[in-house]
Amino acid sequence: MSQVRHFIDLWRLAPEDVRAILEDAKRRKAARVGKPKGWVDLDAPGRDRVLAMIFEKNSTRTRFSFDAAIRQLGGSGIIATASDMQLGRGEPVEDTARVLSRMVDAVMIRANRHEDVERFAQVSSIPVINGLTDKSHPCQILADLQTYEEHRGSVTGKTFAWVGDGNNVCASFIHAAPKLGFKLKIATPAQYHPDLYDLTRAQQDGADVKIVETPQEACEGADCVVTDTWVSMGDLDYDARMDAFEAYQVDDALMALANPDAVFLHCLPAHRGEEVTDSVIDGPQSLIWDEAENRIHAQKAVLAWCLKG
Ligand code: CP
Ligand code: NVA
Repeated sequence: MSQVRHFIDLWRLAPEDVRAILEDAKRRKAARVGKPKGWVDLDAPGRDRVLAMIFEKNSTRTRFSFDAAIRQLGGSGIIATASDMQLGRGEPVEDTARVLSRMVDAVMIRANRHEDVERFAQVSSIPVINGLTDKSHPCQILADLQTYEEHRGSVTGKTFAWVGDGNNVCASFIHAAPKLGFKLKIATPAQYHPDLYDLTRAQQDGADVKIVETPQEACEGADCVVTDTWVSMGDLDYDARMDAFEAYQVDDALMALANPDAVFLHCLPAHRGEEVTDSVIDGPQSLIWDEAENRIHAQKAVLAWCLKG
């Protein structure tokens, strides 16, 4: 069981594995320039492999990128909505994991509760990939870092500003910071701070990661400004959030505080006019479409890494 390579959180991976996955994503992207979307990578590391994809929450990018990714690696995929599975009627996560371990070669799960992905992995004899939980979104961050590096070079030593909710995507940025050596300044309202345990672990691992007082302070001198929705899937306090985040909108004035060549990232879906203005998300510093595309390349690298184990 210990040989199985799960991809649940970046903080669990060795820095060299995170870097290797990122470089593989870039290599795979470069190798298929001009090829049709269904063309299979020459090394086909997913040949004869089947990936199950389970969704407890909605998805566009994660769903299509994983499905396209396993095909481009030479394998095939099965997508299921959890509510259509016996999982949705209360079959234990562990029993589902034992059954799928007999039927497919890897599983990607988008789950409401992070602990369910952990429970699945504990008994799974096949790799388990976190396709977003309430706690983290590691696949997204790989695509984000790939996007930054394609446009601006290594993230090491660069400063990222996170503005808005200290949510699952923010957590994965915190997890990645000590692995790749970028600095992270986080501006969130006090009641929506990221998990302080995550923060402390990253700091103990040598990362320059901190919470700052204002969005302005976060963006000053930043090389990359990142935000996400103020209301994630599963959040019920919509009105309270709209009030709390009002001063956290990424607009031109905030971007003007960042370095002149700073870029803007957003995992999408975006709520224009809430966490970001049209002028920023559709402006010259925004890399969101490359970022969305890179989900495929990053997912392929994650799958290849897991299947290699
Ligand atoms: N960014 C992201 O994970 O998008 P989806 O929710 O569409 O998968
Ligand atoms: N934080 C968002 C990310 C969506 C991709 C959510 O969890 O809904």
